[in-house]
Amino acid sequence: MASQPFNDTFLRACRQEPTEYTPVWYMRQAGRYQPEYRRIREKYSFFEMSETPEVCAEVTRLPVEQLGVDAAILFADIMTPLKPIGVDVNIRPGVGPVISNPVRSEADVRRLRELDPESHIPFISESIHILKEQLSVPLIGFAGAPFTLASYLVEGGPSKNYHMTKGLMYAQPGVWNLLMEKLGSLTVSYLKAQVKAGAHAVQVFDSWVGALNEDDYRTYVAPVMHRIFTEIKQSTDVPVIYFGIGAGHLLEEWGRLPVDVIGLDWRTSIDAARRMGIRKTLQGNLDPSLLLAPWEIIEKKAKEILDQGASVPGYIFNLGHGTFPEVQVETLQRLTALIHDYTKK
Ligand code: CP3
Repeated sequence: MASQPFNDTFLRACRQEPTEYTPVWYMRQAGRYQPEYRRIREKYSFFEMSETPEVCAEVTRLPVEQLGVDAAILFADIMTPLKPIGVDVNIRPGVGPVISNPVRSEADVRRLRELDPESHIPFISESIHILKEQLSVPLIGFAGAPFTLASYLVEGGPSKNYHMTKGLMYAQPGVWNLLMEKLGSLTVSYLKAQVKAGAHAVQVFDSWVGALNEDDYRTYVAPVMHRIFTEIKQSTDVPVIYFGIGAGHLLEEWGRLPVDVIGLDWRTSIDAARRMGIRKTLQGNLDPSLLLAPWEIIEKKAKEILDQGASVPGYIFNLGHGTFPEVQVETLQRLTALIHDYTKK
């Protein structure tokens, strides 16, 4: 693999440079839909897998080899950097991260330690070093954004309406700002460590921030996002991607952030984002549920999205959110080939 020439199509698309075809990767491209993943997962917990560099590298590589995608994403979780700062988190299959000691008071926030990636999570840079030797496509590092991390920390697990998270935000804005500042510093040091180890790009997942209206986003979240992206841009030159679900109403605000790429879910079309004046590279946004439809329907939808993406430079094909266990490997293989063949100049 390492002998293959390096495929930088994804990085060029991030920078709005010309590409021979539209690059593609999938959120959650390593996961339980793959029989090989399930076999490894039988032997280890999620964190054991992601914290053992050889295993982490193996599952990170798997979708690149199996699907032919144009980028790899490090096999870890947005919760990974929270464990060493004092958060007791476990990943429960089919549920998500569950936290036994939620963060709900000023004292809880003050107790959160500062992250030192080198000593707390050395397996991250070790995994990246291994992957740099093995991969012939770019490696994406990633982190959770403060609002999305806070939603797990405050609720103690996944939530539908984020009442306690938003309750803390509205009722105790000083405590909220302290939490955002601490999580902002964590996100910056975690992303910087990944870039230093060799990640070619970084994606910040703000999956649940769409729960806020635009005004509240501007007041309670935008300042820390500006700080994170500014600090990353000052210290690295890798492309930065910002992604959220149901965040179409925040796009104008996102357009002002110093990021290179905006990841869209399936609710906001590529055309609609362009009409809203977004000039950055766009990434997305096939509804992952479509992967259960007959091939003809997937093909039609994918081509519609590709036609929209092709109208301006700077487009990366992806799903509007992650793959899931019921998806067939063959469907993603066929989709990847379609994206490449349909867009080849
Ligand atoms: O995309 C990739 O392949 C890279 C690895 C990755 C994982 N999680 C691995 C994982 C990435 C980028 C994430 C991000 C993540 N984790 C987000 C942001 C993106 C999104 O999906 O909105 C969030 C909100 C989490 C929190 C989390 N961790 C959830 C919701 C779950 C899924 C629970 C489930 O079983 O459906 C996890 C666990 C998790 N993270 C799995 C994987 C492969 C499943 C672990 C398993 O049981 O095998």
